[in-house]
Amino acid sequence: MVCTVIVDGFFGDSGKGKIVSYLAYADDVEYCARGGVGPNAGHTVTVGERVFRLRMLPSAFVNPETRLLIGPGVVVNPEIVLKEVSELEVAGFNVERRFGLDAQCAVIEPKHIKADRSGHLGEVIQTTGTGTGPCNADRALRRAKLARDEPSLKRFLADVSMELNQALDKGMDVLVEGTQGTYLSLYHGTYPYVTSKDVCSSAACSDVGIGPTRVDEVILVLKSYVTRVGAGELPGELTPEEARRRGWEEYGTVTGRQRRAAPFNYELARRAAMINGATQIALTKLDVLYPECRGVRDYGSLSREAKDFVERIESELGLPVTLIGTGPDLEEVIDRR
Ligand code: IMP
Ligand code: MG
Repeated sequence: MVCTVIVDGFFGDSGKGKIVSYLAYADDVEYCARGGVGPNAGHTVTVGERVFRLRMLPSAFVNPETRLLIGPGVVVNPEIVLKEVSELEVAGFNVERRFGLDAQCAVIEPKHIKADRSGHLGEVIQTTGTGTGPCNADRALRRAKLARDEPSLKRFLADVSMELNQALDKGMDVLVEGTQGTYLSLYHGTYPYVTSKDVCSSAACSDVGIGPTRVDEVILVLKSYVTRVGAGELPGELTPEEARRRGWEEYGTVTGRQRRAAPFNYELARRAAMINGATQIALTKLDVLYPECRGVRDYGSLSREAKDFVERIESELGLPVTLIGTGPDLEEVIDRR
């Protein structure tokens, strides 16, 4: 029985979706619960030729046996939930009967989206404009609408903390999927250029209703270079031309904005490992730094330079790099566990 929390050590967009989908599939996990903020996140899962960009449903949908849950700490947009359920149904992933969201999730309303797209939030913070911050503000003011009061979500309502704790009691495997990244945390990030909640590992546990004593592993996902969308500091930021030259040009999953880029940052990685209590590192997009590593699935076949990079991360962080992403497909992983 293993309870694993997966969080991002930089500014989001590290490839958590790919790591979560790989684990759900490789380890045949029984439960995957999404914590984090809400539909401001965009998790990309590539299965063969098909690319899924999810903003609400857990990335573990690839395993048809995994129960998919959204914890009460998350704010939900009913339209996006229903759209993703039906898209995944059409794609053959039978999510309708295995997806649940907590009755106490807060509901994003049109007024929240409107407030998120103008003034301070839209112009200064440069949020994703998805309404998550204003919805969390209403929740703190005790006037948010909850999922239990939204008729379109009725068929999915669940008691997520009860389900997860009972699953752990029975010895089942649980994945807790975090969103955003450590330096976008309301508490630990680059305030005020942050999201509207803490997004570190302990917050992810709280979001889904499991206590810290139940967690076995915390996987910190680190991309091989750092990106950031929206305003706020990015140490070592490259010019957009230099980012393009290195092949680090990326566009946001949710907003389509070009991501700002910088080299891998050992200092930020060490601090993120500390704050999240990481026990393992998943290093993603190694093939972007070392194209000769594309699709490699055993550690021994990596180039010397790529191995030196992995080993430097291990020695600077004092943690094992157990999973290495070498391409977008969920199977393009070196699994050293
Ligand atoms: P909000 O979370 O929409 O309020 O946006 C606050 C800040 O977090 C902005 O800089 C966003 O670009 C950033 N942000 C929010 N969600 C994500 C994400 O999933 N990936 C990357 N950046 C994000
Ligand atoms: Mg993303």
